[in-house]
Amino acid sequence: MQLGWLEDSLHGPAGSDARREGPTLADLAAVGVLYERLPDDDFQGALDRLREARGYVTQDVIELRPDTPNLDGLLAKFKDEHLHRDDEVRFVLEGEGIFDIRGADERWIRVQVERGDLIVVPAMLYHRFFLTERRQIRCVRLFKDAAGWVPEYRA
Ligand SMILES: [Fe+2]
Repeated sequence: MQLGWLEDSLHGPAGSDARREGPTLADLAAVGVLYERLPDDDFQGALDRLREARGYVTQDVIELRPDTPNLDGLLAKFKDEHLHRDDEVRFVLEGEGIFDIRGADERWIRVQVERGDLIVVPAMLYHRFFLTERRQIRCVRLFKDAAGWVPEYRA
């Protein structure tokens, strides 16, 4: 996992350079984001404990790859700032992804996740999501209510 602040934090383009010094897990925790490394050999046990502790009821796996039909259309739904009424829970099995998350002072915190990373973006917290240049990620998702997981865009 890599963390950085985006320089133009309020309305910066998606590709802004991130500064490498700077945010810590405490900055993520301050806005309710959970981050953990899960063990390769027993991530399901850790996910099961998380489900019990936080009330998630469904689990699935999503994969995005360069040959995924309509990949750009799918990514377009997540590249603009949005929130959900359910938590966004992702455990990365393969590939990479980038979450930009609104920190406590409205600056963007850029979080690049990779295999073994668990991230929970809490309900009602503004964020956006991109793939890296590899354009590939496979991750486990957990939901409290799959029907409630719909992006609501920031005006
Ligand atoms: Fe989202």
